[in-house]
Amino acid sequence: MRKIVITGGAGFAGSHIVDEVCRRFPSSKVVVLDKMTYAGDFRNISHHVFSNRVQLLVGDVTDLDLCRRVVKGADLVIHAAAESHVDNSFGNSLEFTRTNVLGTHSLVEACRQEKVKKIIHVSTDEVYGQIMSGAASEDEVLRPTNPYSSSKAAAEMILQGYVQSYHEPIVIIRANNLYGIRQFPEKIIPRFISHLLTERRLPLHGNGSYRRHYLSAVDFAEAVVFVAEHGAVGEVYNIGTTEEYTNLEVAELISNAFGKDSSELIDFVPDRPFNDGRYSVSWEKLQAMGWSPRHSLHTDIPLLVDWYRNNFERYSELFGPVLVRERMELESDTFTTALVEQRPSPFGPLDS
Ligand SMILES: NC(=O)c1ccc[n+]([C@@H]2O[C@H](COP(=O)([O-])OP(=O)(O)OC[C@H]3O[C@@H](n4cnc5c(N)ncnc54)[C@H](O)[C@@H]3O)[C@@H](O)[C@H]2O)c1
Repeated sequence: MRKIVITGGAGFAGSHIVDEVCRRFPSSKVVVLDKMTYAGDFRNISHHVFSNRVQLLVGDVTDLDLCRRVVKGADLVIHAAAESHVDNSFGNSLEFTRTNVLGTHSLVEACRQEKVKKIIHVSTDEVYGQIMSGAASEDEVLRPTNPYSSSKAAAEMILQGYVQSYHEPIVIIRANNLYGIRQFPEKIIPRFISHLLTERRLPLHGNGSYRRHYLSAVDFAEAVVFVAEHGAVGEVYNIGTTEEYTNLEVAELISNAFGKDSSELIDFVPDRPFNDGRYSVSWEKLQAMGWSPRHSLHTDIPLLVDWYRNNFERYSELFGPVLVRERMELESDTFTTALVEQRPSPFGPLDS
């Protein structure tokens, strides 16, 4: 392939896709289009940019003209840019619709106009809504339950229209929750690791019984490239793992990696307006084609803890003011409010 474009490539999942694309297509030109929101971090891909392997273009996927210029001449576009944090979507849902729906529409329209040969759209298992038993196959009805998953499902509907109307060469992938290095510490695993690195307690939604499957971002990136090479246009592929844990079990795994007892560290905090009890997808279709996950959260946790410990300066700004705030709360509510306003946290309401 001559040119590959990855949107959201400076984010968590996107940067793992960039690693895998660079490894698998050593002679292709690789371009990242990323708005560099709070979730984008240049350091996630700096190793490729400094070696001139990857070109980073800072811009918004909702900008049709920009998208046209970026995807011109591309053989493959992998669309991973998104607002991705469910908690944030309850507070600022319009931004999720703007980026995830209008952004996807603008990008696919640009791809249509520029005759891009293949588009991989990164979606999520959350579009199925909660699956309390069994596993959703690709033809399951979509029943999203929160503004984030609704925006991802809406984006898929637009893409389905482009497949039917224009025969756009689109492939959709729906992945489990991902874990790995470089994940912004608003999501449960890096957040709990960061809390323990700063001697904080672990806030758990509800009673901690929500279940999630956790797929390695490295396995995920391999699956993305696998689908780019072998996936059929117009098809949807689930990408999953058998590694399933309750939030309570995740807290235990992480606490154990620090030699601590989770029962002494957990604070049960008010739940989201709605929280899916469980997500589960069947990935037999992809398995039959030859892809399977190789990693497991259980064995990777110590590596993750090491990475966050060694790279914590990236996130120290986020956690430092919060520690100060907790101390100040004892003394002055007025000062606390002023401090919070000056140093807004990206974590949303659960941060206090
Ligand atoms: N993280 C997971 O567990 C998971 C699981 C399944 C699917 N996904 C999907 O994978 C994709 C990436 O998720 P992530 O966890 O890496 O997210 P992330 O929040 O870490 O990264 C998102 C990236 O998109 C960029 N971005 C945001 N708005 C943009 C815009 N308007 N224009 C251009 N770039 C923009 C951000 O700067 C950031 O670099 C998303 O589509 C998400 O729905 C994630």
